[in-house]
Amino acid sequence: MKIDLRRDSTVPLYLQIRNHLQERIERGLLLPDTKLPPTRALADELSVSRVTVVNAYAELEAEGLVQAHVGRGTFVIDPRRRHLRVRETPYDWQTTLLRPTGVWASGMLADMLQLAQQPDLISFGMGAPATELLPVREFREAINRVLRRDGPEALQYDEAAGYEPLRRAITHLLLQNGIQARAGDVLITSGSQQGLDLAARVFTKPGDLVISESPTYLGALDVFQSNDVTVRGVPVDAEGMQVEVLQDLISRRRPKLIYTIPAFHNPTGVTLSSGRRHQLLDLAQRHDLLILEDGVCSELRYEGRPVPSLGAMDGGEHVVYVNSFSKFLLPGIRIGYLVAPRRLRERLVTMKQSADLFTSSLMQRALAEYLEFGHLGAHLETIRCVYQERRDAMLAGLARHLPRGSHWTIPQGGLCLWLTLPASISAARLYLSAIDHGVAFAVGSVFYPQDPGRSSLRLNFAAHSPAQIDEGLRRLGKAVREQLRGVSVASNAEARAKIPQDTRAR
Ligand SMILES: Cc1ncc(COP(=O)(O)O)c(C=O)c1O
Repeated sequence: MKIDLRRDSTVPLYLQIRNHLQERIERGLLLPDTKLPPTRALADELSVSRVTVVNAYAELEAEGLVQAHVGRGTFVIDPRRRHLRVRETPYDWQTTLLRPTGVWASGMLADMLQLAQQPDLISFGMGAPATELLPVREFREAINRVLRRDGPEALQYDEAAGYEPLRRAITHLLLQNGIQARAGDVLITSGSQQGLDLAARVFTKPGDLVISESPTYLGALDVFQSNDVTVRGVPVDAEGMQVEVLQDLISRRRPKLIYTIPAFHNPTGVTLSSGRRHQLLDLAQRHDLLILEDGVCSELRYEGRPVPSLGAMDGGEHVVYVNSFSKFLLPGIRIGYLVAPRRLRERLVTMKQSADLFTSSLMQRALAEYLEFGHLGAHLETIRCVYQERRDAMLAGLARHLPRGSHWTIPQGGLCLWLTLPASISAARLYLSAIDHGVAFAVGSVFYPQDPGRSSLRLNFAAHSPAQIDEGLRRLGKAVREQLRGVSVASNAEARAKIPQDTRAR
């Protein structure tokens, strides 16, 4: 079946496939009861992942254009029956109400990770810290102390900028990273995700250009896309963003923001070198550009000398700094913060207020109490030690189990690394057979603003024990070798045709 896919389009591939098939069905070019090609066959023909075709078929089915029959395949529905089905639907929300968002990256990854729900499967796909190391007891005690001390005050409406004692505690953490700020400079956000969104809403307008690393954090891609901002990626190497490529881009395209994750970058794990940090700041100063620095993994250094953050080097003129307590403490409390040059702060606070009024006052107070009690130092020491051991286990396992021609980054901190397989391997195609072998990962192509690499993937090394890491990599190595030999493992397409949305994957 010939379908011309535009890989540089902002319309996701699965929607392009759906649109094409829908048009053919509606124009009568695909007759009732015609069987659509099997998902695997069409995916191979179009050089896309099978999940992409499965999603396209699921969309068509939701619109009443086709029907999937377990074990038989997917068939075009007779228009008379379709009419009945459409009339059963009282209101067509999809086309009349929903504003197109352009957001698809994290949804795609979430859909893929939903396929990995088998017992005993080892998933390296999430961007989360290890669940068993979350400090539940200490945080519960902090909540109880706050409720005893503050009573209903802890559950009342609160200030948009955040709970003052927490903002003060954060200034001490910032100082350890070389950033001098007053409590009034800190805006509490609901995770750093909200910090990114507020920055996009305040500093950009539709049609603007933002520069990011390529690949980059897919939640940031979603934020920019939902604000109708174009993202242009700058390649990354072992020293982080290739800043020399930026100069040319800045002169030609005049971007609004440069979004960067300089420490233990998600998804690659690399750190921006000190030399490139100076070059980047120099560019921002010369062209009067704003840098949006994302420091979410910066506390998680396991080796090497610390490099000062861009915010610390800049002194508060050209850098908006976002961070959170998600990666090194508790993602579920949804507390992040943003530090911005003074002239810009008021607009950010107003935008925060319009977004969600304020971040949970109970969680802010409990976190302030936890920090005041002095728990953080010991917790950081424990997790750095455990994560370093797990990173080492992953590096050893990769060397042991992956075939020649594979290479990977060696992060000095953070939660994940970036594996590049021999060029003949498509990571998207590998994904389903890897699941059949009991291992999952994050397919690398979802992290690119454009021109996705096809043979790379992100592996989280923090969430599993060294023994599980080794076993997971043994399974992954087996799946890769099979694909190199052209062996495909059969899997059940029909059982996977309906993929529920889940936004937990980050
Ligand atoms: C680089 C990066 N920035 C921001 C976030 C958002 O995290 P949170 O909102 O939990 O702080 C994530 C989450 O994975 C991330 O990896």
